[in-house]
Amino acid sequence: MRYLIVSDMHGNSDAFEAVLRRVRRKRFDGVLMLGDMVGYGAGPNQVVDAVRELSERVYSVRGNHDKVVSGIESGDNFNSSALVAARWTTQRLTASNLRYVRDLPRGPISIDADLAICHGSPLDEDTYVFSAFEAFEIFSAHRVPVTFFGHTHVPSLFAQRDENVRVALLRGGEGSLVLDPETRYLLNPGSIGQPRDRDPRASFMTYDSEARLVRWFRVEYPIARAQRRILKAGLPRALADRLALGM
Ligand SMILES: [Fe+2]
Repeated sequence: MRYLIVSDMHGNSDAFEAVLRRVRRKRFDGVLMLGDMVGYGAGPNQVVDAVRELSERVYSVRGNHDKVVSGIESGDNFNSSALVAARWTTQRLTASNLRYVRDLPRGPISIDADLAICHGSPLDEDTYVFSAFEAFEIFSAHRVPVTFFGHTHVPSLFAQRDENVRVALLRGGEGSLVLDPETRYLLNPGSIGQPRDRDPRASFMTYDSEARLVRWFRVEYPIARAQRRILKAGLPRALADRLALGM
């Protein structure tokens, strides 16, 4: 099966459209959506509509912003600009899109016996996985060979073989890896709508489960347009500024 893997679009419709344009000619059997469709950006309906219009089967999990926007959680742990954006998004989403976001399932979700998806950690949907120690704890409890996760907005790879956990930050652009059948993996495609690895380009992955081939991509998109949309919506300037910095 061939999968397109998208995460953390965060209401950035300009970035998401650029990603979909980049993969337009490719054939996928499914789309794995790792959460945080909305929150921060000023195009939440466009992002949700675009996901709902995908012709492929979509496997989704909810993110922490999806939960706050749809009223599942209060957002009392959010910083002020994230909370302002979440409230704005709740007001702006159509009733049908709000329901779609609210009904996103809690991760992890298994796609097949060897493949799972989650937002934060497979052990807890809200936990950030940045370090080899955190990955080691997950590998000890979660036996699925290949898991894609989001939430950190940093494209990265953790690989465990025997007792060793290897970490790689997938920086500097595009690349690929054939997964070793004797190794277990946690893979983060990075964020489409708000990258935080100092590379402002939208980040995503593809995975061919037969060939065991993971590829990662970066796509330029009209950042200035996304920033103008944020400012025009009256959202905090910091949310626009950080798009250009990739952090
Ligand atoms: Fe996020």
